[in-house]
Amino acid sequence: MTRHILVTGGAGYVGSHACKALKLAGYTPITFDNLATGWRDAVKFGPLEEGDLADRARLDEVFARWQPEAVLHFAAISLVGDAMRDPGTYWRVNVLGALNLIEASLASGCRNFVFSSTCATYGDQDGVILDEETPQYPLNAYGKSKLAIEQMLGDFGASHGMNSVIFRYFNVAGADPDGELGEFHRPETHLIPLMLDAIDGRRPALTVFGTDYPTRDGTCVRDYVHVADLIDAHMAGLKWLEAGHGSRAFCLGTGKGFTVREVITQSRAVTNREVPVIYGERRAGDAVSLVCGSERAVRELGWTPFRSDLTTMITDAWRWHQSGDYNE
Ligand code: UFG
Repeated sequence: MTRHILVTGGAGYVGSHACKALKLAGYTPITFDNLATGWRDAVKFGPLEEGDLADRARLDEVFARWQPEAVLHFAAISLVGDAMRDPGTYWRVNVLGALNLIEASLASGCRNFVFSSTCATYGDQDGVILDEETPQYPLNAYGKSKLAIEQMLGDFGASHGMNSVIFRYFNVAGADPDGELGEFHRPETHLIPLMLDAIDGRRPALTVFGTDYPTRDGTCVRDYVHVADLIDAHMAGLKWLEAGHGSRAFCLGTGKGFTVREVITQSRAVTNREVPVIYGERRAGDAVSLVCGSERAVRELGWTPFRSDLTTMITDAWRWHQSGDYNE
């Protein structure tokens, strides 16, 4: 029997990697995507159902057609700068989209739900190691919309038996180790792809956003996690739900933070090329340091983020960056 999993945002960076892992594990991933920030070409491992989460009738149609046994919900808008300029769009797209999806899922009898949340739900907490017990104080409409969905899942769990695994991502990086998929955003805002663009001349330089932060070298600290490790956790999360363990939240990072300067140094070593850099002002909304403890995911899901060292992440990202797929 074919086992269908509905993957919202399956045409995006993290969602497309999830579809590959699902296919390899014997499921058929059904991508639901409006292609606003995703790519048709990234949907390689199962059917694409084009649609928007705002359209409940379309969601009902897709659930009826495929009868998925679980939902992996990646689709969202996720740019902190945009969220500060236009909070209404973040509340509308992310929160109403998730509400429609959760209700459509329950209406079809599908009660297993994996949700992509974010370290942005924590806000800026002065360099403490964040974990599942840390109180969440999001600073912008993006983080707040994700926290609202976490809370919504709690309510639907209590009242309607929805089981959810919530993953709070730290900084996702790298690319498919086989070179088949990678990170491609338009516009691009993330450090590593922008740096690789500067290295291979697609952009004149990387601007480092702020050098006067209270960190070891003045630049922000982030906890980078390899996209393939992140997806390993999702597969374990799916098994967790299938085993009937109930709802749980997990932080996904490595417990080790790197500064922007350290990432630049490592990229120079991996690519053996110079990184053209401009030192600029701080970017509004950036937290000083975001590092997480992931003992819970390691202990309860058996998660081993073995690819999440800077060398492997940058090597995999660089391979894909130079491939024909990236250049298309
Ligand atoms: N950075 C630069 N120059 C750039 C881009 C980034 O110096 O051109 C710095 C940022 O200031 C930050 C670090 O590199 O210190 C990482 O920045 P990213 O934009 O790659 O990632 P963020 O930490 O801002 O974003 C991540 C997720 C978001 C999430 C956010 C929470 O990608 O979805 O964490 O703060 F909202």
